Amino acid sequence: MKSKYLMAPMHGYTNHFLRKFMSSMGADYVFSEMLHVESLKHNKELLERNFPLKEENIIIQLVGENPLPFISSIKNINETVEYAGIDLNAGCPSSVINKTGAGYELLKRKEVMLEILKNIKRYSNGTTSVKIRILEDKEKTIELIKELKDYVDFITIHPRTKEQGYSGEIDYEFVKVVRKRVDLPIVLSGNLDEFNSRKLKVLTGADSLMYGRKALQNPNIFRIMKGLELNRAPISEYIEEYKRFGKPEGLSYLKMHLIEMIKGRKKSKEIKTRISRAKSDEEVLGIIQDIL
Ligand SMILES: Cc1cc2nc3c(=O)[nH]c(=O)nc-3n(C[C@H](O)[C@H](O)[C@H](O)COP(=O)(O)O)c2cc1C
Repeated sequence: MKSKYLMAPMHGYTNHFLRKFMSSMGADYVFSEMLHVESLKHNKELLERNFPLKEENIIIQLVGENPLPFISSIKNINETVEYAGIDLNAGCPSSVINKTGAGYELLKRKEVMLEILKNIKRYSNGTTSVKIRILEDKEKTIELIKELKDYVDFITIHPRTKEQGYSGEIDYEFVKVVRKRVDLPIVLSGNLDEFNSRKLKVLTGADSLMYGRKALQNPNIFRIMKGLELNRAPISEYIEEYKRFGKPEGLSYLKMHLIEMIKGRKKSKEIKTRISRAKSDEEVLGIIQDIL
């Protein structure tokens, strides 16, 4: 995972259509939104719905609290989907996920987490990775990362604690320390944009960069970072592709994607309200067409 640009896993956003779109915009790897292993282990239909198209560059992110269901889920995935890797979510701060011991709480259940990663490594057809945040005790986090090294091909660090959610100050210095002390490829996640990326890659020593909210607002970010030609407004390309695909998925994804892409435009609040109230794909696309 050297000098790659990745689309972050984003629950409610990174469906297969957005992943394909971000790949066409230049993302080297695209993460699925987190999928719970309990819901995947016997459910091929769910897998077919989530991964209807071939995506060689997809990293499927799994979330769960017990090691065993990871085995049955990955076996099921292997029979249904082509993928580049399986990622473990060990950073989700949601109380619904955390109360069972999954997501961020896994960072405090080291033995279970290592057992899960062992299972992923054994059964995955691709890379094994984990996405983490920082524990309150930074030294403890570094000691944990040292142990993860034997189980994963790379690690993604979103250097915030659980309590910071998605808006607290990001501890890039922490990533720099990890880089110095652990020999493991690092993907950096957190507030990256086209202006700060290069500086933060040098500062932290991260191998690759992951984009979340900024990529949703400006999918051109991958083209900008890779020096590719910027030929069209991403929103126009998105709509064209959407129509070409023949309404690929639920209305809520379409609304979420377009609301992000119009942020910062004139009257974006008013348009957001109109989109939110729309009852069909056609209605949403009509509203957007008005402002293009
Ligand atoms: C709406 C939303 C959904 C997210 N869903 C996930 C998820 O499913 N799995 C995960 O590991 N991180 C998830 N994240 C965290 C992002 O992947 C990323 O680490 C974080 O937003 C910081 O990056 P950014 O500033 O580039 O958005 C989510 C973040 C947001 C805002």
